[in-house]
Amino acid sequence: MNVTLSHPVSGPTTYTNNAAANSGRLVSAPIVRFSEIISALSVALDITQGHPKGHCMRSCLIGMRISEALKLPTADRSALFYALLLKDLGCSSNAAKMAHLFGADDQQLKHSMRLIDFTSPIQALTHCWKNCAPGGSTIEKLMTMAAIVRSGAEGGRKISEIRCERGAEIARMLQLSESTARAILDLDELWNGGGSPCRLKGTDISLLGRICGLAQNVEVFFTAYGLNAACDMARQRRGKWFDPQLVDALLGFQHEAEFWNRLNGPDLVADISRWEPEDAMLLADDDCLDRISEAFARVVDAKSPWTFLHSSRVAEIAVGISSQFGCSLGFQQDMRRVGLLHDIGKLGVSNLILDKPGKPTEEEYAQIRKHAEYSQLILSQVQSFQQLAEVAGGHHERLDGHGYHRSLAGNEIPFATRILTVADIYEAMTAKRPYREAMEWEQVLQILSKDAGKGVDPECLEALRIWLEKRQFESRVESQLEAIDRLVAEL
Ligand SMILES: [Fe+2]
Ligand SMILES: [Fe+2]
Repeated sequence: MNVTLSHPVSGPTTYTNNAAANSGRLVSAPIVRFSEIISALSVALDITQGHPKGHCMRSCLIGMRISEALKLPTADRSALFYALLLKDLGCSSNAAKMAHLFGADDQQLKHSMRLIDFTSPIQALTHCWKNCAPGGSTIEKLMTMAAIVRSGAEGGRKISEIRCERGAEIARMLQLSESTARAILDLDELWNGGGSPCRLKGTDISLLGRICGLAQNVEVFFTAYGLNAACDMARQRRGKWFDPQLVDALLGFQHEAEFWNRLNGPDLVADISRWEPEDAMLLADDDCLDRISEAFARVVDAKSPWTFLHSSRVAEIAVGISSQFGCSLGFQQDMRRVGLLHDIGKLGVSNLILDKPGKPTEEEYAQIRKHAEYSQLILSQVQSFQQLAEVAGGHHERLDGHGYHRSLAGNEIPFATRILTVADIYEAMTAKRPYREAMEWEQVLQILSKDAGKGVDPECLEALRIWLEKRQFESRVESQLEAIDRLVAEL
């Protein structure tokens, strides 16, 4: 389909992008298992927490094996299964706060904290001293340490509260059961009442929450130090951190070598599917795929106050541009999904870099650039997302071949990617950055028009211009500033 439109800079333009031929679906199978998608996407949660890839899936296998030992009914096992896979949905919400408070890489910090007994004041203080303001002078370390001590136990409780509440909220948004949401909410509560955020004690903590708490800690020790260390940790914290009955159930299968060997196996996604209670299996239809995309966009957008709402707005703009080409509604729906998920790889970038109050250094910029490749890697783990993963991974490519991460050029860059790139650049330029003010549309148009044909697709840019002419698209600077104020107030 060719459409002639008036271009503001270079006169009349004809759309030569053949929308009808190029707008095939990006998601191949309309109905797949919900667990297959979230298992694959849980890797994004692992990297946010600084855990080795597969942490959520291995925690799921351990927790499900405990539930088998306890002979839990199907409904409970089903709720537990999804809670274990998605337990870290809220993990990005406290990343900026932790990076600011400790002046350290939030991912390293989050992972190393799981390897100590943070209820022991000596261990907690030693860990703080070792990890705060790394590379800083003694004075800088002391000042950072003083700020952490000032924030005290209440500060730690708040960090946990943000994570657990946000995780439960996103689980509810995914229409998972209240038992699943409650398990995520109780994830960091401890059997002796010393946990957070609510200092619940004993059986006041939901059973599924207690299993998730034990499983996640066992996984971290198992992967870092091996099975014996994981079992020792569980034994030592029996009755303190963990429900004694659950620890006994865990130790009951500690000698099942086949089970533990499988945790290091090559295909965790396939292993996970065997543990999903079949009579309560959830399928991801079209609406569910939309909800999953929205949920993970929330996780991504919560990572930094500077990127607050970015993914959801890119999705809206990408749909707007597609509509100007007369693309099918199915294609527009997939463009919305890829807009929501395109920056999922940003979860692998430290907030120290994302929120830096100045221009990134070359080295930091190289870290930021990796996010496009991470996005493609994460999304390509979902069988039916192969096309979508390729489009998402290409959103920083340029027509002249000087983009990243594959340096594709000209026709190597698919139509859908070109739309996504224009939507992404426009959205990012009209938002504030730590090192520059937000730009007005006229300024963005001027810059992009100069780059049309070299960096961005001129027809996609023209489609954006026409779409914007027809509607009021509010700036998100106000929301960004509110998110930054909230973060500062919590520090
Ligand atoms: Fe990006
Ligand atoms: Fe983006």
